[in-house]
Amino acid sequence: MREIKNITCIGAGYVGGPTMSVIAQKNPHLNITVVDLNRERIAAWNHEDLSKLPIYEPGLDAIVKKVRGKNLFFSTNIEKAIDQADMIFISVNTPTKTYGKGKGKAADLKHIELCARQIAAVAKDDKIVVEKSTLPVRTAEALKSILHNTGNGVNFHILSNPEFLAEGTAVQDLENPDRVLIGGENKEAIQALVTIYQSWVPKERIITTNLWSSELSKLVANAFLAQRVSSINAISELCEVTGADVNEVAYAVGADSRIGPKFLKASVGFGGSCFQKDILNLVYIARTYNLDKVADYWEQVILMNNHQKERFADKIIKTLYNTVNEKNIAFLGWSFKKDTNDTRESAAISVANYLLEEEANIIVYDPKVSEDQIYRDLDSLNTRNSNKNREMVKVVKSPYEACKQAHAVAILTEWDEFKTYDWQKIYENMYKPAFVFDGRNILDSKKLTELGFKAYVIGKHNN
Ligand code: NAD
Ligand code: UGA
Repeated sequence: MREIKNITCIGAGYVGGPTMSVIAQKNPHLNITVVDLNRERIAAWNHEDLSKLPIYEPGLDAIVKKVRGKNLFFSTNIEKAIDQADMIFISVNTPTKTYGKGKGKAADLKHIELCARQIAAVAKDDKIVVEKSTLPVRTAEALKSILHNTGNGVNFHILSNPEFLAEGTAVQDLENPDRVLIGGENKEAIQALVTIYQSWVPKERIITTNLWSSELSKLVANAFLAQRVSSINAISELCEVTGADVNEVAYAVGADSRIGPKFLKASVGFGGSCFQKDILNLVYIARTYNLDKVADYWEQVILMNNHQKERFADKIIKTLYNTVNEKNIAFLGWSFKKDTNDTRESAAISVANYLLEEEANIIVYDPKVSEDQIYRDLDSLNTRNSNKNREMVKVVKSPYEACKQAHAVAILTEWDEFKTYDWQKIYENMYKPAFVFDGRNILDSKKLTELGFKAYVIGKHNN
């Protein structure tokens, strides 16, 4: 197998961009090109002003500054990049299907198949093709079939190398991963990818498996993580009625080294582009093998998450004397978690939708999410027309403006800056009684109560 010198990554998104930036930084001898169909996105990756990169991730701008134009390039010339590559990462989106068989459940693999066909059409010499996207178990079989039937004598080796980075901590996760997972059939191809990661990842953290274990492990890892969030969220409701405090319960339970303390933070519900999509996919796969009990088991994680979002909105409505009609509800936070501008599947979108159905006015402030994105998110629900969304939802540039003359403030994202606000000033400018609904359990409810607020905190009694 020839030495790997040129790498191409198809898909310049939340995974492709940061992952290739870190690989380039750690492997100055490699030449890496990230390509995408989306011209705007590529232009943003190439923008001179690093604050204009399409993705906000702490520390990413510094790495891009160091390697861009040296051994990392962003381009729309997909064919050229495929032709020149020794190794091709496929890092395109794999959303839930919105049509046809498996609609709302299965992963839509049309982008993956398109990549495979394009690689098959362009490649003139042997290549290693790496699945970086999250895929249903046994997708590599379809890739093999497309690539091996080109009839042009080119050999392709397929590897599965799922990505485990989390948004907001992408650089940290990439630079210091718990593990790197590589599944494959050909030892030399596996070794070629191991060598790239070994530039900075200790050998013992690089796990190699067969293709199917690697593909399935990615879905299972996300399902387990989401399951922990749904588990603690289920307990948060029980805490609210029994007088237990969910933070104390999470601490006590997580102190058991077999359980561990991470991912036990009660919230208004998990969001993000992957948890729901990947569990739905796992459920769909189980059902296609007639494993209904397995499917039902994992489906509960999503049902509990939907319940948590709905019950948060219900709590606001009930507390505001059973009506939010024309009342001003300030939303602090719109992204699905702190330190990212990503809003995909954010709990804020669902909670806003419930409240808008009850004819509330919503005023949103998020430190990183644009006004356009917020309207796009609401419009995509198709629950009301876009004029109506613009009439009922206002997006402002200051938290104090959002909370001015509000009947209630709802915390939807756990941005650190929310803790440091002048809550006295916020209180003074709100309608009374002034309500706070802390969906992230980040504010000091005792202090808020002393200031005069009526505070409701997820997972706490006496609200
Ligand atoms: P994304 O939507 O941010 O980026 C995907 C990019 O691929 C888009 O810019 C799109 O234009 C491009 N693309 C689609 N088809 C293409 C084609 N045929 N040719 C060229 N470009 C094409 O998606 P993402 O969040 O980076 O996720 C990518 C994959 O990684 C998904 O399978 C996801 O499940 C997985 N993943 C995501 C994360 C995350 O934190 N976002 C973490 C781990 C794994
Ligand atoms: C998640 C996984 O953590 C990554 O390992 C995985 O690579 C990625 O999905 C993926 O495949 O896309 P991400 O969605 O970026 O990463 O962010 P998380 O930190 O996992 O948070 C997901 C959601 O769960 C957020 O809405 C977050 O607020 C919520 N959450 C998380 C809680 O409500 N409580 C917690 O204790 C942890």
